[in-house]
Amino acid sequence: MVEARAPGKVILLGEHAVVYGQPALALPVQRFVTVRCEPAARFQLATKPIIGGDALEEALAELAQEFGGPKLAVHIASELPLSAGLGSSAAVAVASVRALALGANRKLDDAQLLALAESMERRFHGRPSGIDHTTCALGTPISFLKGEPNRVEKLRVKKLALVIASAGPRDASTREKVLGLRAEFERDSRRLEPLFAEIGALATTGMAALARGDDAELGRLMNENQKLLTKLGVSTEAVDSLCVKLTKLGARGVKLTGAGGGGAVIALHDEPERLAGELPNAFVSRWEDA
Ligand code: PMV
Repeated sequence: MVEARAPGKVILLGEHAVVYGQPALALPVQRFVTVRCEPAARFQLATKPIIGGDALEEALAELAQEFGGPKLAVHIASELPLSAGLGSSAAVAVASVRALALGANRKLDDAQLLALAESMERRFHGRPSGIDHTTCALGTPISFLKGEPNRVEKLRVKKLALVIASAGPRDASTREKVLGLRAEFERDSRRLEPLFAEIGALATTGMAALARGDDAELGRLMNENQKLLTKLGVSTEAVDSLCVKLTKLGARGVKLTGAGGGGAVIALHDEPERLAGELPNAFVSRWEDA
């Protein structure tokens, strides 16, 4: 029996704009997807999370071929809410690659792990920027710039705690949200391009704020980012009203995280555990440079 895991992630600043070549900042969360493989008569997905549907089966079958068709039963368990903007599909991809590599006695370097996880993510999301699976695979806060190749740098984080709360189910998948915005971009790139550039500038400013542990500035940047995400049309009434509620409860900054349309919201608050205790299904994630 072999087992591997990968964390989920939050995007602190820069989702959607990252698809259009702007920088974005992402952090792994302390909640994991675990993939366990056991010897079996043939390769099979034995325990499925409710994610990916046929795409998950197909992606795993393709991955199994990469590893010489091992006879394994694959069990996937997730501590992450699915399709909430917390990178559950990327964590499934990364943990699956790790587990199958272990099962096949193959050692992978980061580049091989990222390439295989990316091809699984493409099956789930079409053409993702790559920020999700890169964060989940490296397991460290990163700044990410899409390109050929992507530019990935480890972020300095003096000290940060975020409350991760739920604004309820999403109204569409990541793929649909990204494609919807792409259609809008093709209709009206002159309106969207400056919004993407503003979001990218927030992410760039955020790097220095994170490094010096400046929560006042980070909160401001998150609120600005949320306003721009609303202008992009990816926020919802449920997200907006949760943002208002969290701000009234003292949050310095609040925004949706991931593709939007509902799902997870992140909040920066001086007493994160107390805030999380007041919300259903909320939890706290922390980061600090060693
Ligand atoms: O909703 P998630 O966790 O899959 O995050 C998607 C992030 C986007 O920027 C909206 C898409 C992407 O590929 O970067």
